[in-house]
Amino acid sequence: MILRRAFPVLVVALALAGCRPPPRGASAAGDEIPIGLYGSLTGATATFGQSTEAGVTLATDEVNAAGGLLGKKVRLIVEDNQGKPNEAVNAVLKLIQRDRVVAVLGDVASSLSIAAAPVCQQNRVPMISPSSTNPKVTEMGNFIFRACFIDPFQGEVMAKFALDTLKAKTAAVFTDRKNDYSVGLAKFFKEKFVARGGQLVADEGYQAGDREFKPQLTNIRAANPEVVFVPGYYTECALIARQARELGIQVPLLGGDGWDSEVTLQSGGEAVEGVYFSNHYHQDDPRPEVQSFVKKFRELHQGHSPDAMAVTGYDAANILYDAIRRAGSSDPVAIREALAKTMDFKGVSGNITLGPDRNARKSAVVLKIEDGRFKFVQLVVP
Ligand code: PHE
Repeated sequence: MILRRAFPVLVVALALAGCRPPPRGASAAGDEIPIGLYGSLTGATATFGQSTEAGVTLATDEVNAAGGLLGKKVRLIVEDNQGKPNEAVNAVLKLIQRDRVVAVLGDVASSLSIAAAPVCQQNRVPMISPSSTNPKVTEMGNFIFRACFIDPFQGEVMAKFALDTLKAKTAAVFTDRKNDYSVGLAKFFKEKFVARGGQLVADEGYQAGDREFKPQLTNIRAANPEVVFVPGYYTECALIARQARELGIQVPLLGGDGWDSEVTLQSGGEAVEGVYFSNHYHQDDPRPEVQSFVKKFRELHQGHSPDAMAVTGYDAANILYDAIRRAGSSDPVAIREALAKTMDFKGVSGNITLGPDRNARKSAVVLKIEDGRFKFVQLVVP
């Protein structure tokens, strides 16, 4: 812990002392390509980091088993950020300064990606977020990419779903006000819902870490909405669902990808039955890429199915490895150039082309929680 805190100071001290580390991409031994991954392996969003690590590790093991990249083995270095923005910055500093990584994978949570991206940008080390959906992430600079769609699309998908499929005319929104993802997704949902003729009847807020949601849910109940949109992360979402049901709110709860975790099902139980949320992939998708990935993953993880983060982690790592191969070099600037040219990459979560905005244009799925599992409802193409 003390070392962790002291690290940035050490780096600055070394820099001031004029120490020159070896050039990035030419690791001391020269027989490995160091790649960094930062994520929340502990804390309230621990499944985000753990699932991403599982996907990235599988991709890395496969690449190494097939002989590595450019004749070298890929060495994956993983840093936990406990789901905290300042720890995300420290994690990325360590990966870049201490481990001399040539590219960084992470984070899942948009707020953490936004916090750490400037470190990658300033050091000219490419970063690929597998699953951060807030628009600001890739706006941090030309070294910052993502392997997923963005929240204006996700918000529109759920607004249309509420209006057209559920035939709801009124909605309440319940936002995590300190979370960039939640605030953004709430805004995009509201804009689309209202623009298409829906009415917003309640707009309430909470903060990650809260355990008591009944005061706000009581206001929501009084407004009598036909759906309640909750763009949060699974720990709070499962609690919100429980307390909403306890208060007698029976209308459908809707959300975004932040609901995706086995924990939602375990701690939400009966209360999350009937929840609809948008996501990146679905395990029953018959495409061979999906079925072969799900099979491999289950064999490795005692029958557990991969969630969306495992899939986007796997895809993001493979996009990076493909770019290194095409670059023919592990120089970070050359990797960045190759990443920017990613076209029609056959990912498990779909075919991925990275546009000039460094975002992926991809379809989304709507899932429903039914009988204690996530069931496929709809595929939505942008
Ligand atoms: N999209 C979320 C964010 O940007 C993170 C997330 C991705 C959560 C995938 C669950 C599944 O913060």
